Amino acid sequence: MEGSSSLRRANCGAKGGSPGFKVRGFMGQQQLEDALTGMGLVIIPAGVPRFPGMTRDDLFNINAGIVKTLCEGIAKCCPKAIINLISNPVNSTVPIAAEVFKKAGTYDPKRLLGVTMLDVVRANTFVAEVLGLDPREVDVPVVGGHAGVTILPLLSQVKPLFSFNKEETEHLTSRIQNGGTEVVEAYAAVKFADACLQGLRGDAGIIQCAFVSSQVTELPFVASRVRLGRNGV
Ligand SMILES: NC(=O)c1ccc[n+]([C@@H]2O[C@H](COP(=O)([O-])OP(=O)(O)OC[C@H]3O[C@@H](n4cnc5c(N)ncnc54)[C@H](O)[C@@H]3O)[C@@H](O)[C@H]2O)c1
Ligand SMILES: *[C@@H]1O[C@H](CO)[C@@H](O)[C@H](O)[C@H]1NC(C)=O
Repeated sequence: MEGSSSLRRANCGAKGGSPGFKVRGFMGQQQLEDALTGMGLVIIPAGVPRFPGMTRDDLFNINAGIVKTLCEGIAKCCPKAIINLISNPVNSTVPIAAEVFKKAGTYDPKRLLGVTMLDVVRANTFVAEVLGLDPREVDVPVVGGHAGVTILPLLSQVKPLFSFNKEETEHLTSRIQNGGTEVVEAYAAVKFADACLQGLRGDAGIIQCAFVSSQVTELPFVASRVRLGRNGV
């Protein structure tokens, strides 16, 4: 897996506690189809960071191209797979993936999920700090987009229930919108993939936030609370 490919294979049959999985590495476009064939969950963390002299538009163009290529492979080799799309900007790469799948005739909005779990993990961590709890005991729904002020932590729906005053709400919201570290990022992706695998396995009551196709607002895609199951959302 190390640096060789951004296609991570997940074995949906693996039961918690037993080492029922295999790790295999694939490299380059010529092995893309081998990597994807038969997959139930595909996690896409591929993308480039910004180099000196590059604009955000350059980054967008490169990541859009990478996501397009990978999604063409998915449409061909595992059209029923659930996709966890991590590559930024998530609010643009998810619609791009949707277009690729539409063109291939395989689009299922229930199976395409942009990973916004990082925002939830930040929210849980910072809220837990204020409440003096373990972050694992806290659940903050985070909806909207996946950048700055578009990230909307629903502090009125925090579990366990707590009433934040205006000052606390403003402070926490800004911290959640702007915080984060590398370790938390990787952890968030694993946590979200685990939830998708639990859904695929048929576990009940798996509810998480993700950037998905939506009819709630006039926006075609919005980070929302979703229930995960055998068919995705
Ligand atoms: N959704 C989120 O919450 C979230 C969190 C962190 C990072 N990200 C995004 O994830 C992406 C990766 O970030 P990172 O910090 O892991 O970067 P990184 O440079 O550490 O990893 C990127 C990986 O992509 C691979 N890659 C590059 N070009 C590729 C191609 N054409 N095909 C396949 N793989 C390719 C690289 O080999 C590398 O392994 C960025 O777009 C970043 O903004 C999203
Ligand atoms: C994605 O979010 C950024 C930051 O809020 C915004 O500038 C951009 O227009 C959004 N893109 C789409 C396709 O909505």
